[in-house]
Amino acid sequence: MSQRTLVLLKPDAVRRGLMGEIIGRLEAKAGWTITALELRTLDRATLEQHYAEHEGRPFYAPLLEFMTSGPSAVMVVEGERVIEGVRALAGPTDPIQAAPGSIRGDFGTIVRENLIHASDSAESAEREMKIFFPRGA
Ligand code: PPS
Repeated sequence: MSQRTLVLLKPDAVRRGLMGEIIGRLEAKAGWTITALELRTLDRATLEQHYAEHEGRPFYAPLLEFMTSGPSAVMVVEGERVIEGVRALAGPTDPIQAAPGSIRGDFGTIVRENLIHASDSAESAEREMKIFFPRGA
């Protein structure tokens, strides 16, 4: 079943020059296509919408500070089971718990700087694509 998902390569991934490596892994999956891609320093208003459900959590303020600290690569990826698939490629939130071979497992150590965000459901993907690409993607 073809789906679309919203993916962010977070400021740590861009700063560390890992965009090519991560995009390469996404592009290597059979039938997956990047249909929108923009390098953009995200503003607080956009991130407050995106992370609304986490407001009040202890990590919320430092997460927003980190996410506004430099450009992110904002993209839409389309393809077979791509919502579940990108999250599997990313690995779990805490990079130390992420298996080698996953993006977080290969490149991450710090929970906040965990390189990549990917929508967790079809509903989240629709909501997030509207937040990051309000004129359509
Ligand atoms: S939960 O409890 O399942 O809703 O949380 P989770 O999906 O794992 O995380 C939600 C987003 O918050 C980020 N996060 C953190 N950032 C900084 N520090 C800590 N400790 C932390 N814990 C979770 C996590 O990376 C998720 O952001 P995205 O952008 O979706 O990866």
